[in-house]
Parts: sequence; structure tokens; C-alpha cells
Amino acid sequence: MMAAPKKVCVIGSGNWGSAIAKIVGANAAKYDTFDSTVKMWVFEETVNGRKLSEIINTDHENVKYLPGHKLPHNVLAVPDLVETVKEADILIFVVPHQFIAKVCDTIKDHIKKDAVGMSLIKGVDAGPEGLKLISEVIKGNLGITMTVLMGANIANEVADEKFCETTIGCKDKAYGPLLKKLMQTPNFRVTVVEESDVVEICGALKNIVAVGAGFCDGLGFGDNTKAAVIRLGLMEMIAFARLFCTDCAVSPATFLESCGVADLITTCYGGRNRKIGEAFAKTGKSIEQLEKELLNGQKLQGPATASEVHQILKQKSMMEKFPLFTAVYEICFNGQPVTEFISCLQSHPEHIHACPFQRKALT
Ligand SMILES: NC(=O)c1ccc[n+]([C@@H]2O[C@H](COP(=O)([O-])OP(=O)(O)OC[C@H]3O[C@@H](n4cnc5c(N)ncnc54)[C@H](O)[C@@H]3O)[C@@H](O)[C@H]2O)c1
Repeated sequence: MMAAPKKVCVIGSGNWGSAIAKIVGANAAKYDTFDSTVKMWVFEETVNGRKLSEIINTDHENVKYLPGHKLPHNVLAVPDLVETVKEADILIFVVPHQFIAKVCDTIKDHIKKDAVGMSLIKGVDAGPEGLKLISEVIKGNLGITMTVLMGANIANEVADEKFCETTIGCKDKAYGPLLKKLMQTPNFRVTVVEESDVVEICGALKNIVAVGAGFCDGLGFGDNTKAAVIRLGLMEMIAFARLFCTDCAVSPATFLESCGVADLITTCYGGRNRKIGEAFAKTGKSIEQLEKELLNGQKLQGPATASEVHQILKQKSMMEKFPLFTAVYEICFNGQPVTEFISCLQSHPEHIHACPFQRKALT
């Protein structure tokens, strides 16, 4: 007997949620493996006097978060979260990370026990027991198998179907082929790796580096300086992954996947975190104010992640080993002048021969 088609839902409908719904909707319609209806949870709001879910279901466009792109007609916008998830076999989590705890609380008694989750959320959770990956938070709340998808994937470009790559992190190899089938298209190429925690931590940490790259742009430094910021940021990402991902291998190869160096580069040139970093350095306005003025309801991840990572580094007295992460935190939250950003990097452990700390990470 043929297995029943898998029902897929997308939890979230922001910029990335809508872009991924376009891909998932097209693949669900194309392959018998999947039920063709893809429910997408919409955090309801009124746009131009109409409900956003109604606009999406009538005009097949998320006019607020992904304007100019039609969504497949089999993507059904659902304002009720429980209704969205209740029969789903595959749950795709794509809300800004500050909302994930509430989402989990709402759905925990309503999901299939053998469902598999995939987190596209970039960020970490700093709770009383220390830093947690978002996939761990979801797994801890819902008890389902979790996987992640991260990569150099600026939502508007993915929605434009411009060629790019992405990485699925999947500890249980058995899910790899199914999830790859759901996600891959000719212009969205998927690699599956087992080091899921490393994939996920890369996705969170690169946003801190991007804020730094934005400072660098706003302060008028050139391409050499920005390249140095990106490289030092990458070395801190590797060192932090070594410190944090103790349950799995941390291979240099994972940083060479789309989730690593490629996502770091695209975010430091094109993403919203860079944009806000630049505006912060140029205008002196606060991060919250700039988020309101420049992002039209979209949420910023970099400064929040810098703060969460800072708590851990402080606890472990390791701040001086991570000058870039620390400087981004101090500048965003502690009144350190942004003009000091580059001088904070001049005594980086990478430049001090006696401290082979990061070098070890690549051997
Ligand atoms: N946009 C990208 O290019 C991109 C790419 C890769 C990963 N991501 C990640 O995807 C995740 C989601 O980002 P996005 O770009 O889809 O969202 P977004 O920032 O574009 O939009 C914000 C979303 O949050 C919703 N929202 C507002 N208040 C809420 C509340 N109280 N409860 C629940 N939802 C609420 C809004 O309705 C909207 O859907 C983030 O972790 C982000 O880092 C984004």
C-alpha cells in the first residue's frame, strides 16, 4: 500500500516564511509524496483595511511581507495556529525567534506525535540554564524530531528564483531525502549534513557579524576592512561552535557549506542586520528606533543574539576571546561609541601569535 501523502504546514508568514511557502507549495503540488494543500499560519493583522489572511487567500500575495510575489494557490493562509498544525506531518517553523515559546505553548497538545519539525529560525534562546538552540527549545516543548534549514538565502532573492544553495541539518539521516524533496528546486539547491547544531549556530551567529559589517559600512571603511570583519567574525563563529556544540563534531567542512561562509557573506552585504548596523553608525539613533523606522514590521535578530551570546561569554569569562561579538553587544546595548568598533578588533586573538585558540578550530 502506498504511504499516505505527508501534510506540510508553515508556521509563520513573514518575509522568509512567505518565500519558503512559495517553494514548499510548488513542491507539494508537484510530488505525490505530499498532500497538495499547505497551510500557512498568519499572525493576523489588518493591511489596507483588510485582513492579511484574506488578502493572501484571495490575491495569493503577502502584500505586507513579500510584496510582488504570487504564492501558489494551494498555500492556504490560516489565522488559527492550532488549525494550521493539527494534522501536519511536517512542521516548518519560521517565526522570529522571540515568538517561538508562545507558538510551542499554543500547539503542544495539538500536533501529531510522530511529526517532524524543521526550524528556519535564526537566533538562540538564553534561558536560566544557559544558551539553547531554537530547535532544542522546540524539541523540549513538543517532543518531536527536529531538523533545521539555514543558508545564504535572502528571502526576496529566493522568491525571485535567483539561484542559491541551502543546508539542511538532520541528525537522523532517515529524514534527509524526504525533506530535500520538499525543499529543493532547480534554483534552490539543498545539501543535507548531519551536524545540525553547527548548521543552526552558524545561522544565529552570522547576524552578529552582519551588524559589525554594517558598522564598518556606516563608518566609511572600505572593502578590505569589511573582509577582515567577516573573517574575524567567521573565526569567532567557529570558536563559539567549538565551545557550545559539545554533543556533536564541529567539522571545518560544515562552515564551508551554504549555512556557513556563504550565509555570512550574503548577510554582511545584503541583509537587514547590516542595514541597521550601517544606519546606527551614521545616525546615532537607537536600534529599536531604527527597527521601527526601516523594517516595516520585520524583526531584527543580530543585536538580540549578541546579547544572548554575551551572557554566555560573560558567565564563562571568555569575552576577550570574542572581541567582535563583545564589541557589537557593547555598542548596541552599553553605550560604547560605535567609532571604537575597529579599535576593538586590533588586539584580536587571531593576531596574537601566543594564542592559537581559533587556529585550533580549523585543524
Ligand atoms: N527574511 C530573510 O531573508 C530570512 C532568511 C533566512 C532566515 N530568516 C529567519 O526566518 C525567521 C522569520 O523571519 P521572517 O523574515 O519570515 O519574518 P519577518 O521579520 O519578515 O516578519 C515578522 C513576522 O512576525 C510576525 N509577528 C509579529 N508579531 C508577532 C507575534 N506577537 N507573534 C507571532 N508572530 C508575530 C509578523 O506577522 C510577521 O509574519 C527569522 O528567524 C529570520 O532570521 C529570514
